[in-house]
Amino acid sequence: MTAFPEQFLWGAASAAYQVEGGHDADGKGPSIWDLYAHLPGTTHEGTNGDLAADHYHRFKEDVALMAEQGLTSYRFSIAWTRLFPAGRGAVNPAGVAFYHALIDELLRHNIKPMITLYHWDLPQALQDIGGWESRETVDAFADYAELCYREFGAKAELWATFNETVVFIGMGYITGAHPPGVRDPARALQACHHVFLAHARAVQRFRELKQDGLVRHDAVIGFVNVLQPHASASDRPEDIAARALADGCFTHWFYDPVLRGEYPAELLQWAQEALGAPLFAPGDTELLKANLCDFIGVNYYKRELVAANPDVDNTRINTSGEKGSGREFGFRGLFKLVRNPSGEYTDWDWEIYPRGLTEGILQLKARYGNVPVYITENGLGAKDPIIDGEVVDDARIDYLARHLKAAADAIAAGADVRGYYPWSFTDLLSWLNGYQKQYGFVYIDRDNHLARQRKKSFFWYQEVIRSHGAGL
Ligand code: NOJ
Repeated sequence: MTAFPEQFLWGAASAAYQVEGGHDADGKGPSIWDLYAHLPGTTHEGTNGDLAADHYHRFKEDVALMAEQGLTSYRFSIAWTRLFPAGRGAVNPAGVAFYHALIDELLRHNIKPMITLYHWDLPQALQDIGGWESRETVDAFADYAELCYREFGAKAELWATFNETVVFIGMGYITGAHPPGVRDPARALQACHHVFLAHARAVQRFRELKQDGLVRHDAVIGFVNVLQPHASASDRPEDIAARALADGCFTHWFYDPVLRGEYPAELLQWAQEALGAPLFAPGDTELLKANLCDFIGVNYYKRELVAANPDVDNTRINTSGEKGSGREFGFRGLFKLVRNPSGEYTDWDWEIYPRGLTEGILQLKARYGNVPVYITENGLGAKDPIIDGEVVDDARIDYLARHLKAAADAIAAGADVRGYYPWSFTDLLSWLNGYQKQYGFVYIDRDNHLARQRKKSFFWYQEVIRSHGAGL
């Protein structure tokens, strides 16, 4: 008997900027990433998403491959600037038409779309008026979400508002390695608060439109977070305390507002006293409380070991990109993330620790009750070996198989896990790491007109899906 429930979804994931290309096609406006990746020194060898996998022009070919693999769901994000080139105001019909065409193509192959509304590509026009630091962006997001619901709400069941807030806020406003390249924790917390408000406003509109019959009656909406369980580096009480603090800052701060409608109280008090942020406006508290998620999406790649770090210099935060990032990331001098001396690591220094997926999901269950969970990302970033013209990504197969078993363990322990979306379907742009860091089931030959080629893992996952996970 398979460990996965009958309705379990077998997916794969992507994000607009990382696959679409067509950066200025058919009336699309510029996003913060369209500009940022063109600034000197921001990305690996100056790579950018202008072309990416050209999914914008080749989505039919990609969906045919998804169907051949047997996917029952596909997670993708909508580029806000295709719909609203300036973030708000005039709608671009060609952008709307593109997502209709993509969704229709998926549905024609019985693949359920899971739509992420925001995967980091904020319209530059909104950045120009303050981006997430401005409440005008919150209003604009609610309107953008509403347009998406009105257009696609009759077709799509699965919706997520934001992807990995800890990353786009942490790197956008603390390390400064992502746009807008700010390094200021107080501004980070205020921007982050506005993201939670934008989420709540978008959930509210979703439910209103569902009531009006414009969104499918069975549609659900959630929030996608990094799931990064922490373990203390030793049994020393200060390391155990540091670990609890890391859970508070990296996990509870991002899950509590969307699953409980409030911040962890002690941390909020500390942040407001020490940093003067986040500031609340009248109505914020009620808005968060009234608009909790239907489900939570978790992106699991690694766990982190945490140690006390009384002397960390916060200005030494690592900004070199994904490789090793976070390693020296101190939260106000109170903890640091350290390497596990006996750990297994990827080429990008991420600890491979499948049990963390089981543990992390069960920790969420303990804190938030049995909220439905979708594993919205999980995968191995690597430089894949090519042998006799074939991409032999055995390391990826091993990684995914072990994590799927870990997901099955969480299900066996009573967690309500409803789907699994490996990152990624095709190879794509890794924000700062260019195209060298591969995650896909499908190789994109950048020296041969972006030709698609099935990797060994493509066929492996095809069999997993066919057997509904029985052969793992
Ligand atoms: C999570 C992000 O959502 C995705 O955009 C990114 O490429 C992967 N992690 C890999 O780093």
